[in-house]
Amino acid sequence: SLQGTVAQPKASSVAEPLLLNAVRGEDVERPPVWLMRQAGRYMKSYQIICEKHPSFRERSENVDLVVDISLQPWQVFRPDGVILFSDILTPLSGMNIPFDIVKGKGPVIFNPLRTADDVDQVREFVPEESVPYVGEALTLLRKEVENKAAVLGFVGAPFTLASYVVEGGSSKHFTKIKRLAFSQPKVLHALLQKFATSMAKYIQYQADSGAQTVQIFDSWATELSPVDFEEFSLPYLKQIVDTVKQSHPNLPLILYASGSGGLLERLALTGVDVVSLDWSVDMAEGRKRLGPDVAVQGNVDPGVLFGSKEFITNRINDVVKKAGKGKHILNLGHGIVVGTPEENVAHFFEVAKGIRY
Ligand code: CP3
Repeated sequence: SLQGTVAQPKASSVAEPLLLNAVRGEDVERPPVWLMRQAGRYMKSYQIICEKHPSFRERSENVDLVVDISLQPWQVFRPDGVILFSDILTPLSGMNIPFDIVKGKGPVIFNPLRTADDVDQVREFVPEESVPYVGEALTLLRKEVENKAAVLGFVGAPFTLASYVVEGGSSKHFTKIKRLAFSQPKVLHALLQKFATSMAKYIQYQADSGAQTVQIFDSWATELSPVDFEEFSLPYLKQIVDTVKQSHPNLPLILYASGSGGLLERLALTGVDVVSLDWSVDMAEGRKRLGPDVAVQGNVDPGVLFGSKEFITNRINDVVKKAGKGKHILNLGHGIVVGTPEENVAHFFEVAKGIRY
């Protein structure tokens, strides 16, 4: 594209966070590192906030709490990425889909969507009206982090959001959304289209508010077989990427799907800059399959953080070697698990930040 051919002044690229330089394929001395779900329940400091503010909706919708919680891992571990504390479901109330996140149960959608009439009731998302606290929090995070790390925003992908609102919450077999997909595909497509338009706007809003890169979580896309992924997820991901690239050509987009091994090449077809690999695929093979244009993120099993310090060190060295120099963001293959010892997380970051290519 035209944008890509414009030479950037050296001074600005030097001041950029390591994570952005790595994604753009610049010469970096080590891989940047952050952890999915790094703000959350494995941290004592988060649990203390939870005691005072037991409602997840409150913790994730109050600017001061959002900023405080997002900064907790930053203050302790100094990751190269600081992700906004929020949830992929946060936009739903602004789309007229009431929900809650209930302790011990997870996401609950009060009136699951199952029919064409239900989908008609879904409003398109206007982020600046519905979630002004997200924009304010991102702006404050940028100030606080001062380009010493990249501030990350995130959104849920259309299929993954649809799976929550159709199933009514988390699901094991995804029968309700598959019943809809395989018996009334038009109804599901109408819903996916609303999410695609809304999440493109949400990414633009996050970027305009201060997010330097945005991760799209299509956590449950791999519940779909490849042909069904091509019908119910890929076109909407592509649409989001195309829309955002038109307005924000330099905003790196990261795509995550769990169980991504079977879909890697298709994930790259979306046009994202970074594909985040879970641990179902060997990093060296994943890199080969994706080719040199796409950066990779991941792919350490979160369970590794329950191992010995020596084991953790070995797994970090292994993945860094397999990913090769540059275009790699060191991360877990999925969110950090509740109960992970904080000292092992500290060790992970210490080893990661000591790496030199
Ligand atoms: O990474 C971070 O530190 C940012 C925070 C973040 C949360 N959710 C906070 C949260 C992020 C990036 C998410 C994304 C998210 N939310 C995803 C995609 C990532 C993935 O894991 O695949 C999904 C599928 C959701 C939906 C969701 N929200 C689930 C399945 C749960 C867990 C339910 C449970 O209790 O185990 C939530 C709740 C949630 N979101 C928690 C946190 C820290 C835990 C509840 C709490 O802290 O009270």
